[in-house]
Amino acid sequence: MLRSRSELSAVCARLREQAEHPDGGGESALIGMLGDRLVGVLRSHNTPSTLYYVRADGETYVVKAEFGRAPTLRDEIRWYWSAARRGLPRRLFITGHTGPGLAFLLLKRFGEGATLDDLALAGESRGPIARHVASAVTCDLELFHRTQRQVGRDHVHRLTERRLALRYSQARNVPYLRTLMDADVVTVNGVGLPGLSRWLRRILSDPRLLAYLTPDRVGMTFGDLHCGNILVHEGLTEVVDPRGGPLLPISYDYGKLVQSVEGGYGVVMAGRYVLRRTWGTAYEFTPETVPGYSSLAVLAASCDEQRYLQALYYAALHFMTMLPHHASDEKETTALYLCGLSLFYKLLARLA
Ligand SMILES: Nc1ncnc2c1ncn2[C@@H]1O[C@H](COP(=O)(O)OP(=O)(O)OP(=O)(O)O)[C@@H](O)[C@H]1O
Ligand SMILES: [Mg+2]
Repeated sequence: MLRSRSELSAVCARLREQAEHPDGGGESALIGMLGDRLVGVLRSHNTPSTLYYVRADGETYVVKAEFGRAPTLRDEIRWYWSAARRGLPRRLFITGHTGPGLAFLLLKRFGEGATLDDLALAGESRGPIARHVASAVTCDLELFHRTQRQVGRDHVHRLTERRLALRYSQARNVPYLRTLMDADVVTVNGVGLPGLSRWLRRILSDPRLLAYLTPDRVGMTFGDLHCGNILVHEGLTEVVDPRGGPLLPISYDYGKLVQSVEGGYGVVMAGRYVLRRTWGTAYEFTPETVPGYSSLAVLAASCDEQRYLQALYYAALHFMTMLPHHASDEKETTALYLCGLSLFYKLLARLA
């Protein structure tokens, strides 16, 4: 640690100590240790991690911490160390540690934590959004290109299939989701769309189509490249919250972007949609049109047709695999399901 970061070094040493203690005293001990260096706390919506904004050496840093087993944060920390070991740019990453008492990640603070979702939902136009998306894609590609390897389509398909099967069986335990997933036809604004099981059967039973939609290379990617994880500040872009785990195809991340931008995920998660069930599995569904989300031209332009269609396929699958995590909110989950169906429809229409 640099001399000029002596206060930060002291904070790191104390964090490590607490991490190594199985009975380290939990959050109150952490807050007590940080004292008046702690200038803000941000509790995550979807994960048990908490972000602490800490002043040291005249700068503000971000400590992302979680107590107990913390499997997701542990994977994230592993991801950062793995990137650092491979000589990839460290960007915001300073250090991270996992122990029996606590897992923590220390990052440089980037701006005020505004995300691309914040920008789009505040009405920013397409140009600046597209530039940030392009910049995030460039970082992702750099990671991928420097770590990629050919593994064959069967391997990639098995990864996809395993995840889909797990989440599919979880979703089937939720009665309203089971009805949606088994429905032959789901009507959206008067148009009948095949239900999820029919789309999947159609793709999985056509070896040529499945091969076309399945990449054959994997590498390091951010793994969760949606607009809520893309930070923006004074025209600059950083990606946070990388997901550790198996190496993945780049189309997986492109799929996250497609889902987030043109797929409607950002709009639904912000509650900016109208959904009404008219009867059975028929709905009126109107996601708000947000100009910044309306084009992913930058992505479509930076990859060929096949990769773009692979991204659409992953985006549709991402919608389906996230359903069990959202299931407690029936309206939101139904909206996400309908977004996924629309992407399958778009994909198959482009392939026809
Ligand atoms: N280095 C950073 N500098 C400034 N703000 C940050 C930084 N890292 C994270 N944040 C802020 O904290 C938010 C949540 O961070 P992150 O995505 O890592 O956590 P998370 O557990 O996935 O939370 P969520 O479930 O809310 O996405 C970000 O959207 C951003 O606003
Ligand atoms: Mg996040």
